[in-house]
Amino acid sequence: MSVFEELHKQIERCQDCALGKYRTRAVPGEGLENAEIMFIGEAPGWNEDQQGLPFVGAAGQFLTSLLASIGLNRNQVYIANVIKCRPPGNRDPLPGEIQVCSKYLDKQIELIKPKMIVTLGRYSMARYFPNETIGKIHGTAKQKDNITYFAMYHPAAALHQANLKSTIEADMLKIPPLLAKLRDASKAVPAQEEKLLAKMEDKKLIDSKPAPAQIEKPAAPAKEQEISEKPVAPQKEEETVTKAEEQKLPENKTIPPRDEKPAIIIEEQALEPKQLNLF
Ligand code: URA
Repeated sequence: MSVFEELHKQIERCQDCALGKYRTRAVPGEGLENAEIMFIGEAPGWNEDQQGLPFVGAAGQFLTSLLASIGLNRNQVYIANVIKCRPPGNRDPLPGEIQVCSKYLDKQIELIKPKMIVTLGRYSMARYFPNETIGKIHGTAKQKDNITYFAMYHPAAALHQANLKSTIEADMLKIPPLLAKLRDASKAVPAQEEKLLAKMEDKKLIDSKPAPAQIEKPAAPAKEQEISEKPVAPQKEEETVTKAEEQKLPENKTIPPRDEKPAIIIEEQALEPKQLNLF
């Protein structure tokens, strides 16, 4: 059994928080084990809990169509959630549940090594864009520890508020150019190393082509580079995006009208390889 399969088994057996008692099935995640891009939602809903698979309800259908809009299918990406078991009545996850479950998501990310993580909704966003609000940062990206994080509204938001659908669709279309830049940037690193070697040979810093072990590699890329660093007001409770399609509880939460200000768009040049500090 692969480490990945072993991790899924561990999640399926997990009783580390009270949700283990309520779930029908845990929902570890689904997709390509070495995907370039990971989508991270909030928590399984009723359909997911029944099937043990992420995003298979109405919000999931919208996510599938969003993927298709950028030429991807579910087998080409990895889809997971911040917490792996359905909270009873589809209530919001509790801080303790998120904390206890974070080891699984962290391990998945460590194994998959995605180039890009797309956060879907407030809870997922909060892990990687602390102190930000979804209304302000949706459609923007930041780079940290060699991963580009891209914030989006939860697909279920479009089911509550029809005018968010086009915003979500437009945000999704920003992903392919970002991914293309990341691919180019990772291709550029070996090319840069070769250039450096050629220079060293020119300057007789090295005599001829030595065995690779003798060649000193250029310095490793810097650990962290924030692309989007705009401060925003602390998160407000009313900005919660709930999962309407499975909600059994009364719909007493509303999504506020979309912040009509234009989304902060990362400057395209911010993703140039140099700016990513890859050299
Ligand atoms: N909403 C989520 O956040 N995750 C799912 O898997 C389904 C709905």
